[in-house]
Amino acid sequence: MIKIENVSKSYVKGKKSIDDLNLEIRNGEIFGFLGPNGAGKTTTIKMITGILNPDEGDILIDGKSITKEPLEAKKQFGFVPDSPDMFLKLKGIEYLNFLADIYEVPNDVRKERIESLTKKFEIYDDLNSEIESYSHGMRQKIVICRSIIK
Ligand SMILES: Nc1ncnc2c1ncn2[C@@H]1O[C@H](COP(=O)(O)OP(=O)(O)OP(=O)(O)O)[C@@H](O)[C@H]1O
Ligand SMILES: [Mg+2]
Repeated sequence: MIKIENVSKSYVKGKKSIDDLNLEIRNGEIFGFLGPNGAGKTTTIKMITGILNPDEGDILIDGKSITKEPLEAKKQFGFVPDSPDMFLKLKGIEYLNFLADIYEVPNDVRKERIESLTKKFEIYDDLNSEIESYSHGMRQKIVICRSIIK
């Protein structure tokens, strides 16, 4: 569950980009976050993921505060950015194992997860190639795989 509680954020003094936002996204819910340019979508997602800190309020991810327990909160989610920075010189399998290390996925679990996810996304046969050689869509697929590897 993601809970946003009374969150405000200003980039410029006296001009709130986010003004007292409250939002609850329940487990299993698929939530579309729409709004006009400059509404504050990216700012909100940056605060949910701990890239920016709110000026006021707090954000809880499965009960863990992203500001007070950032590491614990970050273990609860995966994030697929618009244009991911990739480690282009790593092979697909090295990249997935690296992320599985970060998320502390046990060896036996990760082996099964990597195989089933990459087969579903039809990139299993490319895992021994460097990400540099992947197409844009293949790169997006492997980022999705790594974000749900846990
Ligand atoms: N780094 C920054 N410095 C100053 N102001 C910023 C910065 N980033 C965003 N803003 C301002 O904060 C407000 C919200 O911007 P944000 O990027 O969160 O909107 P958005 O909903 O993601 O827009 P878009 O649909 O264009 O992606 C806007 O008024 C924007 O000008
Ligand atoms: Mg945006």
